Amino acid sequence: MDADQTNLSISQFSSLKSIGASLKEESIEIQRITKMGSDGFLPLITAERRLEGKVALITGAAQGIGEAIAIMYGQHGAKVVIADIQDDKGYAHAARVMIPQKQGCILMSGSVSSVVGGFGLHAYTASKSAIIGLMKNTAAELGQFGIRVNCISSFLIASPLATDFFASKGVEGVEDWVCRLATLKGAVLTAEDFAKAAVFFGSDDSKFVSGHNFMIDGGVTTTNVAFDLFNYN
Ligand SMILES: NC(=O)c1ccc[n+]([C@@H]2O[C@H](COP(=O)([O-])OP(=O)(O)OC[C@H]3O[C@@H](n4cnc5c(N)ncnc54)[C@H](O)[C@@H]3O)[C@@H](O)[C@H]2O)c1
Repeated sequence: MDADQTNLSISQFSSLKSIGASLKEESIEIQRITKMGSDGFLPLITAERRLEGKVALITGAAQGIGEAIAIMYGQHGAKVVIADIQDDKGYAHAARVMIPQKQGCILMSGSVSSVVGGFGLHAYTASKSAIIGLMKNTAAELGQFGIRVNCISSFLIASPLATDFFASKGVEGVEDWVCRLATLKGAVLTAEDFAKAAVFFGSDDSKFVSGHNFMIDGGVTTTNVAFDLFNYN
């Protein structure tokens, strides 16, 4: 197979673990790999395999952000186990596996609601704020075993969760809404952006990063737009 011409259909990603294994067996140097496009095929993007030899347990990976992470982790050579269990049980299980190995990385899903009020309902905001405390405390506990614990917090991504919620409020176009609010203009936030950050945290590139809440929010949580201080339009 010519890596430059690789076009995989969605069905070929049904088992990420076996695909990762077979690609490795065939020693295919994937310089240009694929992600899902609207035509059901996967347009080419450039990447290197940064997660070779890693094993990833990803909860909530059937759709949305978790699915994007599972696909990208598979593309980067990780062995991916997809799970659909309670998050706290997932962390405990992951830690049990990692402690004897004296290494590992636990990655939690936060939100802009983990650092700023007014972006979600009380229960959602409370749970996302709690995630940061849990992340910092487990980082404190598990660092002695070589296990890093971090969190990725993003602004709204047009996943089924977000689009369903907005549709229930009669709002269409999550991405347009996000682009209007974000301080950063000219870019559209997608689940792949989240997955790329997850690749960084899951790889050895972040080997000394732990206890960190990484924001992917186009600057929305650091900016008070009410003053309109820097509007040059
Ligand atoms: N979409 C966004 O705008 C956004 C922004 C910031 C943070 N997040 C967070 O990212 C995570 C994923 O969000 P998403 O938008 O992909 O959601 P989604 O609803 O599109 O997908 C969530 C997946 O998790 C599974 N799931 C549901 N309950 C679960 C449970 N108790 N344990 C394990 N898995 C479960 C579902 O079956 C589904 O496959 C969530 O924690 C969400 O709060 C989402």
